[in-house]
Amino acid sequence: MTFSSTSTQANPTSLTTLPGHPFVAYRDAVLHVEDVALSALASQYGTPLFVYSKAAMLSALAAYQRGFAGRNAQICYAMKANSTLGVLQVFVKAGCGFDIVSGGELERVIAAGADARKVIFSGVGKTRSEMRQALSAGIGCFNVESEAELDVLSAVATAMGLIAPVSIRVNPNVDPKTHPYISTGLKDNKFGVAHEDALRVYRHAATLKGLQVVGIDCHIGSQILELTPYLDAMDRVLDLVASIEAAGIPIAHIDFGGGLGINYHNDAPPEADALWLQLLTKIDARGYGDKKLMIEPGRSLVGNAGVCVTEVLYLKPGAQKNFCIIDAAMNDLPRPAMYQAFHSIVPVNTPGQDGASTTYDVVGPVCESGDWIGRDRALSVVAGDYVAVLSAGAYCMSMSSNYNTRGRAAEVLVDGMAMHLIRARETAQDQMRQEHLINGD
Ligand code: LLP
Repeated sequence: MTFSSTSTQANPTSLTTLPGHPFVAYRDAVLHVEDVALSALASQYGTPLFVYSKAAMLSALAAYQRGFAGRNAQICYAMKANSTLGVLQVFVKAGCGFDIVSGGELERVIAAGADARKVIFSGVGKTRSEMRQALSAGIGCFNVESEAELDVLSAVATAMGLIAPVSIRVNPNVDPKTHPYISTGLKDNKFGVAHEDALRVYRHAATLKGLQVVGIDCHIGSQILELTPYLDAMDRVLDLVASIEAAGIPIAHIDFGGGLGINYHNDAPPEADALWLQLLTKIDARGYGDKKLMIEPGRSLVGNAGVCVTEVLYLKPGAQKNFCIIDAAMNDLPRPAMYQAFHSIVPVNTPGQDGASTTYDVVGPVCESGDWIGRDRALSVVAGDYVAVLSAGAYCMSMSSNYNTRGRAAEVLVDGMAMHLIRARETAQDQMRQEHLINGD
């Protein structure tokens, strides 16, 4: 990781920013999120601790808002990226809609104050009871992923005396050039309806009494770093809009999904506003500029707004490898184990000039060899130091587990100098609450 130093007259504090993390910086050798020192937060709330910058979330959102300035558009935060109530609240207040994938997410986002009409419901396996729940709440749209789902949704809505607004997720069959586990727009994925079947499926939807077709949607994958897959997917979707409308089925909105990548490690994703400038040019050229536009960004709104602060427990030198054992593990930060993902790991207090570094595998306490957070990292640390795992705002807490009966970490939202504990550390009692000993034994 390279650092850049700046120092202004108005603020004599030495400031070292981290590229790609505009709201995370060293001030006088201590890592801060906005105006709060991570060492102070770690002492106050313990570790592992997720810390989020509200300004970073709003600034990421602002890039999309700039891209859509003057348009009829709705940004639906894909809450699977981070569904903590305090995080949702930031996006509710900013006027966002939400992309949900379960009845649980619907309950959460309503609890955070969202307007159900701005909620869209994605996912290949919606249950009848989730459909009923979403219909009763009055959500804005169901993103339907198969013909079978269309039939079930129509029957459920009809039985309730309601009409379900639907969009069909089409699979444009473009390669997003990302990790295979997070690529969703190719033919062999479980997601969406094949491009060549889409018109027939739309015609079928239009005949169903319990449905009203309102849109079309696609989502080609996640952590996308290149423009071309987006541009190709947009062409394919717009081709379909033309043929569906020619068949007499009006399409009121185009939902282009999420997927924009973030900088984890020298990555250079397109900026959201620059990306949309190009996509809107295509949409306008085809004469669809007046349609409502929707998107479902997740990672790009929260990923680099969060860090996970963790304590170095032990340094363990070895013949082949040196290990730096920290108190965060794969249950808190599952992405390296699941996708061999890279997260930068930096000290919370920068070492002095003479702090020689050693190369470590940074690992957690979980009893699995797959429990690693970073490999071959040069660090100058001793037991008891804090380190921060960067880019931890998306798909970390929301994918965390209780494996090894480890409680989920606490979470703090920083807003300037203010800090809000948005999730208390989970206890073993919390984890056992739903369990029952067998009577009589
Ligand atoms: N819309 C749909 C239908 C999705 O399936 C997803 C993500 C999104 C929107 C948001 O995508 P984003 O903007 O966050 O890329 N756990 C993986 C990522 C899985 C993404 C699943 N779908 C990871 O940690 O990399």
